[in-house]
Amino acid sequence: MIKAFLFDLDGVLVDTAVFHYQAWRRMANSLGFDFTHEFNETLKGVSRMDSLDRILALGGVALPDERKLELAAQKNDWYLELVNQMTPDDILPGAEAFVEQAKRAGMKIALGSVSKNAPLILARVGLTHVFDAIIDGSKITHSKPDPEVFLNGAAELNVQPAECVVFEDAVAGIEAAKRGNMFALGIGSPDVLTEADLVVPSLEHITVAELLAAVDKAQG
Ligand code: G6P
Ligand code: MG
Repeated sequence: MIKAFLFDLDGVLVDTAVFHYQAWRRMANSLGFDFTHEFNETLKGVSRMDSLDRILALGGVALPDERKLELAAQKNDWYLELVNQMTPDDILPGAEAFVEQAKRAGMKIALGSVSKNAPLILARVGLTHVFDAIIDGSKITHSKPDPEVFLNGAAELNVQPAECVVFEDAVAGIEAAKRGNMFALGIGSPDVLTEADLVVPSLEHITVAELLAAVDKAQG
């Protein structure tokens, strides 16, 4: 029986996934190369330093650790310029209503994000109070696709992994949920999120009752 919902943040509850893309592209451009939307899909759910390593490898750029830390800090400054303009209007369509529905249905709610900026973003959009547990980038040692972030969320909520549904827009996040033995609801395109148990374009497109019926069906 499902008892808890574990939500990714960027690209699931708020549209910060596009801010990450813009800020990383700005950094890549400053080094003389660019990357595509398709490549960007492989960065979603991946920690700041791991994302930087992947981008530098794509551009064929090798740098000392000190310079890499500077670049990561620069990217984060550019990213925060965008985040600091956020308001509650930046919550993605259907997300807040869905979370409220889930709480009324008695679900426990956790955040499972590898972002170190997650608490700031939640505060900016006024969503901090909806969570029973918040697992962010400061509380984990392994980035998605490692299941650590979701397993910690389940443990903090005192539920079993099989009693959780994970909400994810990232290929790495879906993999983390499946490796953690959780039902994975993809938010986005089924062509990208091929390993998800079910995919919807946004939280506007599903109700809590419909989701729980789909989990029941899948778990037989
Ligand atoms: C999320 C995003 C990634 C981002 C990571 C770290 O998982 O999907 O694109 O790299 O968080 O975010 P941070 O805010 O700590 O740089
Ligand atoms: Mg995401």
